[in-house]
This record gives sequence, C-alpha cells and structure tokens, in this order.
Amino acid sequence: MGEALKVGVVGCGIGRQHLDAYRSLPGLFEVVALCDVDEAKAREVAATYGVGRVLTDLGALCELDDLDVVDVCTPPYLHAAQTLQALGAGKHVICEKPLAGSLEDADRVAAAEKRSGRRVMPIFQYRFGHGIQKLRLLVERGIAGRAYLTTVETAWRRRPAYYAVPWRSRWATELGGPVVNLAVHGHDLVYYLLGPAKSVSAHLGTLVNPVETEDCAAVSVEMADGSLCTLAVTTGSAHEISRHRFCFAGLSAESNTEPYRSSHDPWTFTGDTPAIDDRIREALAAFEPRPEGFAGQFSRYHQALQSGAELPVTLADARAALELITAIYHSARTRAPVQLPLDVTHPLYGGWQLPGRS
Ligand SMILES: NC(=O)c1ccc[n+]([C@@H]2O[C@H](COP(=O)([O-])OP(=O)(O)OC[C@H]3O[C@@H](n4cnc5c(N)ncnc54)[C@H](O)[C@@H]3O)[C@@H](O)[C@H]2O)c1
Repeated sequence: MGEALKVGVVGCGIGRQHLDAYRSLPGLFEVVALCDVDEAKAREVAATYGVGRVLTDLGALCELDDLDVVDVCTPPYLHAAQTLQALGAGKHVICEKPLAGSLEDADRVAAAEKRSGRRVMPIFQYRFGHGIQKLRLLVERGIAGRAYLTTVETAWRRRPAYYAVPWRSRWATELGGPVVNLAVHGHDLVYYLLGPAKSVSAHLGTLVNPVETEDCAAVSVEMADGSLCTLAVTTGSAHEISRHRFCFAGLSAESNTEPYRSSHDPWTFTGDTPAIDDRIREALAAFEPRPEGFAGQFSRYHQALQSGAELPVTLADARAALELITAIYHSARTRAPVQLPLDVTHPLYGGWQLPGRS
C-alpha cells in the first residue's frame, strides 16, 4: 500500500468533501493541515475533522516539511497561481476545476510540472462513478462499436442566493459561467469515453439570472472519432437533472438523471440484439466496484504516485477541457464553427474572459 501521503487542503468549501474522501481512505492519506483566509472557518473545519494545524497563508503551508501534497480548493481565479506556488515549493498538487482561466496558464502549469519533478492532478471526480466505469468496460471489451451520437444535458437550478458568494458569476473570479464550472463534469465524461472534439459550434445566452457570464448554452460538436455530440446547459431548470446518452453501434447507454450523481449507478445499457444483451450481462458480471467520486479519484491517485503510472486525471485532460471551453466561447462570439486543436496562435489562447462589471 505504501506510506500515507500527507496532505494540506487549501480552501474549506468543497475542501470539506475532499476531507470526507481522505477520511474514508485512512491508510492512504493523512490531512495534516488546513489553510483558509477565513481563519474561523478553517478552525471549525479542523475541529470537525481532527486536523492539527490551521494556517491562513499558502506560503506558510508550503513551508511545512512534513507535507507531500497541496490540495487547492479555492475560488477558480487562484488555481493556476497557487498550483505554481506549491509546485515551486516542491509539493505535489491536486487542483479543483478549472485548472486555469486560459490555455496559456494551463501550458504554464504543465511546463512548471515538468521542471519540478512533482505531479499535478486536476479534479474530475465524476469519471469514477460506477455507471460511467461500466460503460468504459463495455467499450474496452469491444461490445460498444463505433460511436454515433452523444447527448449531454446539464439542467441545474441556480437562484440569487447562490450568487451571494462574491467570486461567483464574475469573469475575473469565476472565470466563466456554467460552461466553465458546472457542465464541465458532464462534458469531461464525453472526452473520457470518446477522446477530443474536432469542431465546435455554440450558442450562449444569459437568460436566467442577471450575471456577467452565460447561464445557458447549446453546443453542437463533431468529435475527432467522427461521431456527433450535443451539449445542453442551463441554470434555470426547475427540475434539476444531468443526463448522458451514448449511442454506439450495437448498444446505447443512458445515465440516471440525479444532477450530482449521474455518473453513478444506475445506468441502462441496451444491446441491439439479444446476443449483445448477453455479452453486456456477462461483462458487467465481472465489473469490480472501486471507490467513486473524490475517494475514487484519490485512491487511484495514491496508487499511481506509488507506481509512477499515469495519474487518473492528467494535465492533458484538464487542457482538453479548457480547449473545449475556449472553442465554445469563440464560436458563440464569432457565430462560426471552431476547429480544434487550439494552439498559441488562437486569439483566445490567453483567456476567454470579457471585461467584467466589477
Ligand atoms: N469538483 C466539484 O464537484 C466541485 C464542487 C463545488 C466546487 N468546486 C470547485 O471548487 C472551488 C471552490 O468552490 P467552493 O464552492 O468550495 O467555494 P467557497 O467559496 O465555498 O470556498 C472557497 C474557500 O476558499 C477560501 N479562500 C479564498 N481565497 C483563499 C486564499 N487565497 N487562500 C486560502 N483560502 C482561500 C475561502 O475563504 C473559502 O473558504 C471552485 O473552483 C469550484 O469550481 C468543485
């Protein structure tokens, strides 16, 4: 199993769910410090989780010798700079989404990681739900043929109270709207299964709340494998759902629609013939459940760090997600399809954000 990795969590919002996951993997991780600019909050969380040290400054956290991993759970605009700071201090980094606000910053982080000899793992914990893992198994076993059409709906509900947190919905601090911070999980699952996009056409609207960014999106995608995909996003759905439908030659797969657990069981897998249904049943009988969500990502991370294998989510995965986001904004603004991949010459390489009101 190897030694427990010593972790410092920065940011006590979603950081609490990371703490729950570390606590569920006691032989693999030990959270030795919490860091938050809100000291009272950090102290309360530290007391709840029995964490010994509380700091209010990332620089001080990075100076701790008995610390292997800095886990960045702060608001989006801080992620790239804090990741670079922790790497510079010789720590491994886990970073919440989005990794950065531009392809340029993502490339900067990748270059710094290479120089540092440490590893950076972006968060995409939806990948480890049992539903999507079962579909991966069916694809790996060749039971799913070529992909035809994928549809992803992220129809969530956000009302003014959600935006009371000052960093939300501002270009400068959230870095984008639900395309960047909410639907990104569902969109990542498409890449996880099928690989990257080749061409993107998008329409964006601000229809639900008086925010700087988009809050609705309709996106049409041609994948590099030749299949087609639609991505639908809104924060205005009275009934919240997430839904993923993958239509392959030979089988279709449909997720459950629980908004924040759609990659978990139950999924429905339907073969095109009774013989394919038999193959699906046989393959799924051999499915070995592993931890899901954050615990699923962290347990695989520990294993990969020990063995030197590829991390369960890589910087290339985060860059691909940021490339799709860049293409969506560019297509919506130019009212034209955008061809991928995007490099340093793209006009939005340095970021897609517009000047904000604040
Ligand atoms: N993976 C997921 O499912 C998921 C879910 C929710 C949020 N997130 C992501 O997590 C990040 C944080 O979101 P949240 O909802 O927890 O926000 P939040 O505002 O609830 O929590 C952020 C915390 O960071 C602290 N903080 C701010 N600046 C800091 C600094 N310089 N140093 C140390 N601490 C600082 C704040 O005081 C706050 O406690 C966002 O990027 C968000 O997109 C991911």
